[in-house]
Amino acid sequence: MDPQPLDRPALIAALLFQMEAGADECIGAEPVDRFAAAAAAREAAAARAEARAPLPKPAAPAALSPKPPAEGDAAEAVTEARRLAAAAKTLDELRAAIEGFEGCALKQGARNTVFADGDPAARVMFVGEAPGRDEDREGKPFVGRSGQLLDRMLAAIGLDRRSAGPERGAYITNLLPWRPAGDRDPASEEAAMLLAFLERHIELAAPEIVVTLGRAPASALFDESVSITRARGRWRNATRAGGRPVLPTLHPAYLLRQPAEKAKAWRDLLSLRAVLDGAPPPEAR
Ligand code: URA
Repeated sequence: MDPQPLDRPALIAALLFQMEAGADECIGAEPVDRFAAAAAAREAAAARAEARAPLPKPAAPAALSPKPPAEGDAAEAVTEARRLAAAAKTLDELRAAIEGFEGCALKQGARNTVFADGDPAARVMFVGEAPGRDEDREGKPFVGRSGQLLDRMLAAIGLDRRSAGPERGAYITNLLPWRPAGDRDPASEEAAMLLAFLERHIELAAPEIVVTLGRAPASALFDESVSITRARGRWRNATRAGGRPVLPTLHPAYLLRQPAEKAKAWRDLLSLRAVLDGAPPPEAR
């Protein structure tokens, strides 16, 4: 059976309806050709009608979680990421290497590669999880609501990503440089694949201190699955951060959802301020 001709006005009306309802982007990691799927479904229905076969159950909607790459492909991508990261001799070269890396499917769904913001000469480097919608649009980390909260948190201890220099400056990046579809948490395969870039990023920026925001970057740098509510506030030296002291703290997006937890984040910020002022990192091990 021939596919139905496209009813363009109806398609545009459906799209406008979705936009009015608040949909402002597609969220699948992989593009889906709905026209081909609809044509195939019509053909299958016609064939079933002919054979009088019972209708199969409708397919479940496509999951937002990543399709795991074949084992060999993933291993190759990790090797390639490590090779590119090691070859980068400057932050600009590292940014270009990440932009040129084709091993991660997230890149295909992202508008921008989100590399970093702030002064790379700052004493502290903050590492978040992954860009969200606003960051993906602007190509900079932490520019949405959680970024505004992060800026206020930094200001409370005398730091500012717009200031240059080691005293007041702050340098900000993420574990993943591309937005995961639907703003889900980074998958462990993605973290494992892209960690080499973060390690090299820390090595090239060479901050005195790394502060991780949320569970994923702490787990990646400590090489274990951490519970952020237990790990937060506990300084540790991390081999993957070049042996530097790392302070895990709560993610600003979590603090927006759970404002009562801000007191704990405040304690972590005061601990960071004290170390910046010369105190030894407490409990660092
Ligand atoms: N959350 C993150 O972890 N990073 C961003 O850049 C924005 C939101």
